Amino acid sequence: MKTVSRIDLLRKSIGQARSAGKSIGFVPTMGFLHDGHYSLIDRARRDNGLVVVSIFVNPMQFGPSEDLAAYPRNLPGDSSGCMKHGTDLLFLPQEDAVYPKGFSTSVEVSGISETLCGKSRPGHFRGVATVVLKLFNLVQPDRAYFGLKDFQQFLVISRMVRDLDLNLEVIGCPTVREPDGLARSSRNVYLTPEQRRESCRISKALFQARDDVKKGEAQAINIKAMIEKHITLIPDSRIDYISICDADSLEELEKIDRRAVVLVACHVGKARLIDNILLNP
Ligand code: PAF
Repeated sequence: MKTVSRIDLLRKSIGQARSAGKSIGFVPTMGFLHDGHYSLIDRARRDNGLVVVSIFVNPMQFGPSEDLAAYPRNLPGDSSGCMKHGTDLLFLPQEDAVYPKGFSTSVEVSGISETLCGKSRPGHFRGVATVVLKLFNLVQPDRAYFGLKDFQQFLVISRMVRDLDLNLEVIGCPTVREPDGLARSSRNVYLTPEQRRESCRISKALFQARDDVKKGEAQAINIKAMIEKHITLIPDSRIDYISICDADSLEELEKIDRRAVVLVACHVGKARLIDNILLNP
């Protein structure tokens, strides 16, 4: 595995792989890698000749009151994990390479960026779309891999790629869960042992939602009430949203009469956790 920080060296390595006829698979990350990220790298490894992983904690997607400085980091662990999972090129750009002095461009994917997490975290998806477009431009991947735990992020990036005719495929990969069902997230480290134990109520409620819909429940209001009941049992929890939406447009649904997704965001102690599950009526 080669590790590069400089953009010219990244471009050189990628150019060589392209000349050798290799397809390029790309996994952008903010580091502190876990099995969710490694599942993306494994998939990229299976699909491509060259696998590029980036680690960059992107300041533009954090709000002023969010956890940028405290965001967990573990470069030695990430680097050895990337190597184990068959990464060819690890890209670790410096902040001033991504955002040189005077940087003044941003990408706004309107509509689907503005609901759910976009409402609670204004500017978040602008930061995500801007850095992802920049990274796509540097890496020029054939395929890029994102976890479906960040369902709204996946839709925002897919929409950007479609709208701007970027020549790559965006691939959403299933959420990786702990044995008790909690979605893997870098932010789970913020949970106390008790909060961690009780946080599995989020996924349990989502699984129950999927089962209830399979059995014929079609009223979003009933499903949301059931989920709320489960989540309020978690100590130190505060619900940000529970939402049932059309799985393509994120339009809020009252009746679950099409491919839908139930999305949850809640604060548990110091952590803000998100999760979702697809509902097929
Ligand atoms: O999902 C993440 O880790 C980040 O939002 C991403 C896509 C790497 C952009 O910074």
